[in-house]
Amino acid sequence: MSEISFNAFEGDRYAPLGVYVHVPFCASTCDFCAFYQTTPTADGIDRYMTGIADEAALVEWAGRRVETVFWGGGTPGLLSPKDIRRLGGIVAGRLGGHPREWTVEMAPASVTDARLEALKEIGVTRISMGAQSFQPALLDGLGRQHTREQIFRAYERIRAADFTSVNIDLMFALPGQDEAAWLTDLSEALALAPDHLSTYCLTFEEDTKLWVKLSKGQVKLDVEHEARLYETTWARLEEAGYGQYEVSNFARPGHACIHNINTWRMHEWAGLGPSAASQHAGLRGGNVADLEQWQANLARGERVTEDRVVLTPSLLAEDALIFGVRMNAGVDLAALRGRFPSAPWSAVEVEIARLADAGVAEVRDGSLRLTPRGRLIADTVGAELMQAFSEATAT
Ligand SMILES: C[S@@+](CC[C@H](N)C(=O)[O-])C[C@H]1O[C@@H](n2cnc3c(N)ncnc32)[C@H](O)[C@@H]1O
Ligand code: SF4
Repeated sequence: MSEISFNAFEGDRYAPLGVYVHVPFCASTCDFCAFYQTTPTADGIDRYMTGIADEAALVEWAGRRVETVFWGGGTPGLLSPKDIRRLGGIVAGRLGGHPREWTVEMAPASVTDARLEALKEIGVTRISMGAQSFQPALLDGLGRQHTREQIFRAYERIRAADFTSVNIDLMFALPGQDEAAWLTDLSEALALAPDHLSTYCLTFEEDTKLWVKLSKGQVKLDVEHEARLYETTWARLEEAGYGQYEVSNFARPGHACIHNINTWRMHEWAGLGPSAASQHAGLRGGNVADLEQWQANLARGERVTEDRVVLTPSLLAEDALIFGVRMNAGVDLAALRGRFPSAPWSAVEVEIARLADAGVAEVRDGSLRLTPRGRLIADTVGAELMQAFSEATAT
């Protein structure tokens, strides 16, 4: 499918600006998840709202219009309708008009008509629901709180509320899931006809319950099985009319997630909330992953206190290549060179030729992209590109 195209000139002055809001509340912790989240309390939510208002006041908006908003988590959809309106009011006050896209992540167990009504009212256009699997035993093995029936009820409610785009997240290569079970999950998701599907291969994140099981040998990693499931997914979703636009993301025409594409293209976004990352106003960094510490920092007028780096053309070019090749549209090399002329292009060209010789990447119509084989080892290719940049900038 054709990718969303932006202003032909990708210079940073005109780069689209997004806003990411991390809502760090979940009813319980899933066995695979390492995102920062905590149990919601009335006091915690109040302090969170105050913090978001304080943080939004500290961002250098420079009068720029916000193109996309993404509320991720945690579970933003767990907020009460009143709190959705409160948070929506704070964010909307900074947008400078209606954004092109406003996504909110929801978990099936907390989807209610009243919450959906509040989300519609504040201007949300896109709902992303974490189904993960339709099979009770697999949901149980992930420590999820919802049932398959709740997925169907939640999806029906979301559809009835008439958002522009609805995404379903699924996970594969789960312990105890063979290829037939994964195909069943894909078919159940396709029967709902979502506009967008994200299919994530299970990652064993450190300090999660599943990671502990892996380190005790109670579950096993099988990269060949994972590779087969990737290929099965790509074939099945293509056949069903979903265009793959990134290693894990598929959409019907016109429903790709613009916010995520902008981040992978290394444009700009301001992150609000504990653990939120920002890439904006010449800096990249993150907020501390702790609600109280985040608030204490804001009280001193400090945000983006973690892993702060000054953005350089070389860093942005490197990341635009690493994330860009994961997209089916690839990276327009001439445009990227025009955007960041001082990046170490001769070393990059040598590396691109090496990746092409190895059959994992190709340059077609001036764009660098992964081959299907390269997509199976996208992280390794990314690490090799990173290595080429660090060697070139060290010399
Ligand atoms: C930030 S989570 C939040 C979504 C929402 N709280 C929910 O769980 O329904 C977004 C998605 O990331 C994916 N995800 C999270 N941890 C993962 C992991 N360790 N491996 C693979 N996918 C993961 C899941 O599909 C999840 O729906
Ligand atoms: S997957 Fe979603 S619901 Fe589960 S702990 Fe992570 S953010 Fe919370």
